[in-house]
Amino acid sequence: MKVLIFDTPEEAVKRTARMITDQVQAKPDSVLGLATGGTMPPVYEQLSNEYKNGTVSFANATSFNLDEYVGLSPTHPCSYHEFMRQELFSKTDFNPANTFLPRGDAPVPNSEADRYETLIKEKGPIDLQLLGIGSNGHIGFNEPTSSLASRTRVKTLTASTRDANKQFFADGETPPNHAITTGIGTIFDSKTIVLLALGEKKADAVAGMAEGPMGAHNPASALQMHPSVTVILDQAASAKLKLREYYFLAHPDGEEPEYR
Ligand code: PGA
Repeated sequence: MKVLIFDTPEEAVKRTARMITDQVQAKPDSVLGLATGGTMPPVYEQLSNEYKNGTVSFANATSFNLDEYVGLSPTHPCSYHEFMRQELFSKTDFNPANTFLPRGDAPVPNSEADRYETLIKEKGPIDLQLLGIGSNGHIGFNEPTSSLASRTRVKTLTASTRDANKQFFADGETPPNHAITTGIGTIFDSKTIVLLALGEKKADAVAGMAEGPMGAHNPASALQMHPSVTVILDQAASAKLKLREYYFLAHPDGEEPEYR
């Protein structure tokens, strides 16, 4: 696991976006794994700007999002379908026929999860999977105690996740109790993984992920076993890491030879 610590959230966001544009420039028909949540809009804004500047095109890329709320149709304003349309797809040249999310309004959510898992297998593997992390260590909606080998399925959301995501719902509306999420095993099939975490609320989860014992109490800790993971942090999110000095030594200010 490569840990890159940047002085500011803006720099961390910029590097994350750059890793995605580099991937797509090197392989225009890349399969990208995309994420939602409050951390991602600045990343998607940067990608939209790069597209507008003509430095990258997503016309031949395919995307798979991690998750969707059970019960929300793709046109619901708080669905992740809508989030992706607003934040990225409508501002870039992604081909809508090649952007995929699970259908939250499918009549049988478990069958939809199986269909989505099969689709990823057919069109994958995912070249680059973008991840956020929950303050409880979840990746996708793989809440604590998720099997570290799990595939796409329906998960019950924790009270803390529903509470954290309440801000994205209208007054009086609450996040659904369940989501369809790609599994940790599904995420593991990605060739490379980039996880972005910003702010002090993520510091405990990040420390557990990178340095804690691997276990289902912190699902992101499973990433310790993946051969190609880059963790991108701002100062606040890195605050609880015991080996911060080592990460600085290896990559001062997030520097890597290929990004000098
Ligand atoms: P956030 O969520 O970006 O809204 O903090 C991240 C996550 O839950 O994976």
